[in-house]
Amino acid sequence: MFYVPVILGSVRRGRKSPIVARFVVERLRRSGKFEPELIDLAEYNLPIMEERMRVRDDPPATSVEMGAKLARAEAIVVVSPEYNSGYPGVLKNALDYFLPEYRRKPVGLVTVSGGGFGGVNALAQLRLVFLSIGAYPVPLGLPVSRVQDAFDENDNPKDLLLEKAAAAFTAELLWLTEAIAAKKLAET
Ligand SMILES: Cc1cc2nc3c(=O)[nH]c(=O)nc-3n(C[C@H](O)[C@H](O)[C@H](O)COP(=O)(O)O)c2cc1C
Repeated sequence: MFYVPVILGSVRRGRKSPIVARFVVERLRRSGKFEPELIDLAEYNLPIMEERMRVRDDPPATSVEMGAKLARAEAIVVVSPEYNSGYPGVLKNALDYFLPEYRRKPVGLVTVSGGGFGGVNALAQLRLVFLSIGAYPVPLGLPVSRVQDAFDENDNPKDLLLEKAAAAFTAELLWLTEAIAAKKLAET
């Protein structure tokens, strides 16, 4: 089983992204290959990043906790809303606490929008960020459009296409996670 923190990058009042994050966590779990854990930035409540966690002698306790989870991660998933054609500052603030924790890890990107484009601007921006910090974004992202209408009262997708997209996303994340894990094993 591959341990995968699922970072929820929305802390907005009345936020919808937790529905998507829980959906993704559940589908990863159901694959039987991943051990997902939700990292809700609203609970971590990281202060404005003054310096990276590892180079501070007084790092915030929640950054130490999050850093340990990222260090243990064999893959990482980010669930990000799109705000003003980008991803939220609170997510960048959290990501910037860390660096070596990301190295050579596969990253699955899930974006959430109120509009019809699934947050593809945020998706493209997050790809660039993760490439720059030494991680491997999985080419297939999971953009979720019109999130306010996308799930029923049991938090299941109303549209089968979203279920299929989540299955494909999970399969692609697994493919890259297994490939990287095999390579790391061969190197030991
Ligand atoms: C500050 C702000 C900016 C937004 N900008 C966009 C946008 O550029 N494109 C879009 O499709 N939706 C936009 N929305 C709608 C959000 O994508 C929508 O509220 C969605 O539910 C975001 O996830 P959340 O509920 O977890 O915040 C914006 C919402 C806020 C609060």
